[in-house]
Amino acid sequence: MSAARTPAAYQALPSRRLGGVMDVPGDKSISHRALMLGGLAEGMTRITGFLAGEDCLSTLAALQAMGVRIRRPGATEVIVHGAGMDSLRAPAGPLDMGNAGTAMRLFMGLLSGAPFETTLIGDQSLMRRPMERVALPLRLMGAQIDTSAGKPPVVIHGGAPLTAIDYLLPVASAQVKSAILLAALSAHGTTRVTEPAPTRDHTERMLGGFGVQLERSGATVSLLGGQRLRARAVDVPGDISSAAFFLVAGALSSVDGLTLRNVGINPTRTGILDMLRLMGADLTIKPRAPQGVEPTADITVRAAPLHGIHVPLELVPLAIDEFPVFFIAAAAASGETLVTGAAELRVKESDRLAVMAEGLQALGVQCELLPDGMRIIGGAIGGGTVHSHGDHRIAMAFAVAAARATAPIRIEDVANVATSFPGFPELARRIGLQIEEGG
Ligand code: S3P
Repeated sequence: MSAARTPAAYQALPSRRLGGVMDVPGDKSISHRALMLGGLAEGMTRITGFLAGEDCLSTLAALQAMGVRIRRPGATEVIVHGAGMDSLRAPAGPLDMGNAGTAMRLFMGLLSGAPFETTLIGDQSLMRRPMERVALPLRLMGAQIDTSAGKPPVVIHGGAPLTAIDYLLPVASAQVKSAILLAALSAHGTTRVTEPAPTRDHTERMLGGFGVQLERSGATVSLLGGQRLRARAVDVPGDISSAAFFLVAGALSSVDGLTLRNVGINPTRTGILDMLRLMGADLTIKPRAPQGVEPTADITVRAAPLHGIHVPLELVPLAIDEFPVFFIAAAAASGETLVTGAAELRVKESDRLAVMAEGLQALGVQCELLPDGMRIIGGAIGGGTVHSHGDHRIAMAFAVAAARATAPIRIEDVANVATSFPGFPELARRIGLQIEEGG
């Protein structure tokens, strides 16, 4: 298991005039996938704009532990020398996924058809997260997988021949969908996965880019096993989930405008833009010329009066990682905001509904925790101390809350910000947020 890191804290001070132009780091979901598909492909995959956060570095280290040759010529550039699906070798010990749920779940699919046994472990938070939702469909394909009462460690015994399945996902989850598609690559026959609501489709797009034929028909994706992947260059766009912190900060406090460059605007990820617009946010989206399989844009946000909304159910899976910071926007907006249909937030890096409600209440914000969402009565955000419970997105969300708070906010346990957004406090300071780091 990962060694415990020194807990650290942020002291975030009210900051009323944000502005400037910035690039946010590369997309986490796409960086994981680029490494994995690069490792399965034949030839050299050059990844630019790579997110060198701890989560993606766990994926990188796991591939290296299985014999994939990977070089890092620059901070955000990675070269993967893939040698095909059959080139992976048994690792010497358990593969540590750290805090990365995506890494663990996607590797479960990728390794289901491998001829060797692997054990996947993670940090305290990951060891508490549900893995049966992935193990179950993979077992239906013939994989031999053990979890410990549904949680990690996950043991993938390997060596079992896989057969295609026709599977209706019980929860809208891109991780489960992706795990099945990765297992389908080495299964006999055509696997079909149907999702109850659209979720991020980076795996499908990138598999297509690597030369795999897959078909989408309505809510169903089909993939015939046995296809080979061809290495290709991957240019990772900026992560809209990281951009979201600054979009909300800008919507609350940027009189002069704040521009975020080269942000991924894949329509399966842009729920946060729709939600902020429904609240009255002033966003200008300028699409960029296409570079690869993912659309990108420069987004400018300016402060505008926000009002509460009832979040349309269909937007929930399209903004699933953005709710912590969305709740901050709701706390600063006038009137009531209601989120329902978001029970999945309870099984993220923390129980994001409970932890956000606790933090908002500590700052004097009126909110009601619901089994599958939250009701927030917006207005003023006060100062105080909040605890992130080791969740990177909770820590960053409360740092952004300071943009509108009436007094400083102290955020405890922020070390995990480095899992998805290394350099967050420095970048935040560059646009005028006042965040001090301390113990
Ligand atoms: C992800 C899918 C989502 C998201 C996670 C990244 C992915 O998880 O919350 O941060 O890269 O596929 P679920 O599949 O559990 O919804």
